[in-house]
Amino acid sequence: MAMLQVTDLEVSYGMIQAIKGISFDVKQGEVIALIGANGAGKTTILHTVTGLLKSKSGKIEFEGKDITKLAGNKIVSLGMAHVPEGRRVFADLSVLENLRLGAYTRKDKQEIEDTLQMIYKRFPRLEERKSQLAGTLSGGEQQMLAMGRALMSHPKIILMDEPSMGLSPIFVSEIFDIIKEISAGGTTVLVVEQNAKKALSIANRAYVLETGKIVLNGAAKELLENDSVKKAYLGE
Ligand SMILES: Nc1ncnc2c1ncn2[C@@H]1O[C@H](COP(=O)(O)OP(=O)(O)OP(=O)(O)O)[C@@H](O)[C@H]1O
Ligand SMILES: [Mg+2]
Repeated sequence: MAMLQVTDLEVSYGMIQAIKGISFDVKQGEVIALIGANGAGKTTILHTVTGLLKSKSGKIEFEGKDITKLAGNKIVSLGMAHVPEGRRVFADLSVLENLRLGAYTRKDKQEIEDTLQMIYKRFPRLEERKSQLAGTLSGGEQQMLAMGRALMSHPKIILMDEPSMGLSPIFVSEIFDIIKEISAGGTTVLVVEQNAKKALSIANRAYVLETGKIVLNGAAKELLENDSVKKAYLGE
């Protein structure tokens, strides 16, 4: 059984249908990439899966449970975390306050403390800057904070929306290394990216999205060799 199963999903904004019937699945332990150009519908899919948007039709199942109509906070408490596009951190709160907010669905204080220490280990910069206001962090540091905040909920699966956006090449590599570590630590990953090369290099499988439809899917290694993927997404 897949951990996350999306079936025949359709999503509209008023009269405009952004997602036109897509199906995909993520199995436990996988890193799955969803790649596509601007406006393809990547963010819309993540917002619908995490309960921020309602679908017009279709089904979303998480660990066998139908979550299609569930509210976002309920979905978080089931074990799904979302790192939003543009790394929305709370600019006027400190790094530590942002991290603590990520644990809002959890109760056990000791477990929360353990997760915080784990995050500080993975992101030493966040510990160094724990008292700094999040709005004054660099873009790459804000991306780390957004990831750390999502990890504070101790998710089974983490959904990331364009983690490399606007980052310098060195930082992009660092962020993708961290995604690999998160995966190695046992968290399942669904990552949405325009940086297809990087995303395919760390993913097990990928889906290619064009104007609300999945046009290709398969093993990431094979997609890296696929001529139409190379032409449209890898700049080759
Ligand atoms: N709130 C909204 N109201 C109306 N249309 C919307 C809204 N949000 C998104 N859309 C439209 O839905 C389509 C898919 O948008 P979406 O943000 O999901 O794309 P994306 O793949 O995430 O693109 P990008 O790579 O630029 O982030 C686009 O045509 C967009 O204009
Ligand atoms: Mg987007």
